[in-house]
Amino acid sequence: MLVLSKTARIFSKPRKREVRGFLRSINFRPGTLFLHKLVLGIETSCDDTAAAVVDDTGNVLGEAIHSQTEVHLKAGGIIPPVAQQLHKENIQRIVEDALSASRISPSELSAVATTIKPGLALSLGVGLSFSLQLVNQLKKPFIPIHHMEAHALTIRLTHKVEFPFIVLLISGGHCLLALVQGVSDFLLLGKSLDIAPGDMLDKVARRLSLIKHPECSTMSGGRAIEHLAKQGNRWLFDINPPMQNAKNCDFSFTGLQHITDKIIMQKEREEGVEKGQILSSAADIAAAVQHITACHLAKRTHRAILFCKQKNLLSQTNAVLVVSGGVASNLYIRRALEIVANATQCTLLCPPPRLCTDNGIMIAWNGIERLRAGLGILHDVEGIRYEPKCPLGVDISKEVAEAAIKVPRLKMKI
Ligand code: KG4
Ligand code: ZN
Repeated sequence: MLVLSKTARIFSKPRKREVRGFLRSINFRPGTLFLHKLVLGIETSCDDTAAAVVDDTGNVLGEAIHSQTEVHLKAGGIIPPVAQQLHKENIQRIVEDALSASRISPSELSAVATTIKPGLALSLGVGLSFSLQLVNQLKKPFIPIHHMEAHALTIRLTHKVEFPFIVLLISGGHCLLALVQGVSDFLLLGKSLDIAPGDMLDKVARRLSLIKHPECSTMSGGRAIEHLAKQGNRWLFDINPPMQNAKNCDFSFTGLQHITDKIIMQKEREEGVEKGQILSSAADIAAAVQHITACHLAKRTHRAILFCKQKNLLSQTNAVLVVSGGVASNLYIRRALEIVANATQCTLLCPPPRLCTDNGIMIAWNGIERLRAGLGILHDVEGIRYEPKCPLGVDISKEVAEAAIKVPRLKMKI
């Protein structure tokens, strides 16, 4: 596609030499006019094969995604070799679809950006080897992307947000709080010490057999819990939020999962229901688990904001809290975080739901952010590897714990 901006019009009556100079400066090749930087983003870190083309003004020119959710829902969880096979079967079509929707020719791309860390090894490998072939063939620069960095920066595509801001990333595979100081400048304030909240909600939903529930059979575990919780009474079970005495910003969800397992077993006995059948109290259990999850996330986030303000890392009156990841689409959890944001004079921002979950747009946008900042653009891809485990930024969670900030009690009237 011909990407024309206002500057193209200044050449209505140009002098030949000026035109040649200008065309050289914008990397012109016959047949094309490159006035915007264009990045193709490719994502295969978990169970979505996704690609998108985004320009440097944040326009999404084309995107495509193939979700494996249905297959993994039936299997009762993600089986890495199955995910790998599905990525292999779909990646070429998805990249072609994104490119053809964008109506640009691959030669017009400024770079290819691909998630190389963290994630499932077998899944990351498919995206990386496909991308390396592509950049070799097209002779384009390659921008390796950290999946969590991409989630965190997505908000700058959809909203006008300056650095620094706080981000809470909550999904099936991630749970972290970080201060985002720049494109590649993160301070890690806390993370889950065991599983992520989405993983816990998926496990509870499986244990409650919600896939057999007529209203929830096609929903992810977390969505099914949110849906059922609306019909339930959260006060029927007395569950303590995790890590109440630890004055840090870390999270834990396995304890909550085990307590819920015990409650489910007890209810099965009381109701005379066999494992694998739907309990009549399923909605109440869903409501209680969702509430405790929301309170736990809210309290750690509250402490993170107070810590950053105490250390003057964040504006006292104008700070931004960004929440993203699949679990961020849960409106009950968002309301709990809104209560925290209001109490700390922060503005709560979330990307739209389709950009909260894994997608190609966030990877392409991270590529644009890196191009603009001149960070991590590779012209030689020799020796590049994927990294299934990779921390985000500089870990200051010990410092946060040492500050031992007491969080004022907030009324969680959600
Ligand atoms: O970001 P995502 O699509 O994939 C990764 O895990 O990276 O997030 C998927 C997770 C799943 O665990 C799913 O159960 C959870 O997000 N989820 C939700 C909701 N929608 C999706 N959890 C709570 N409430 C929801 N409405
Ligand atoms: Zn993700």
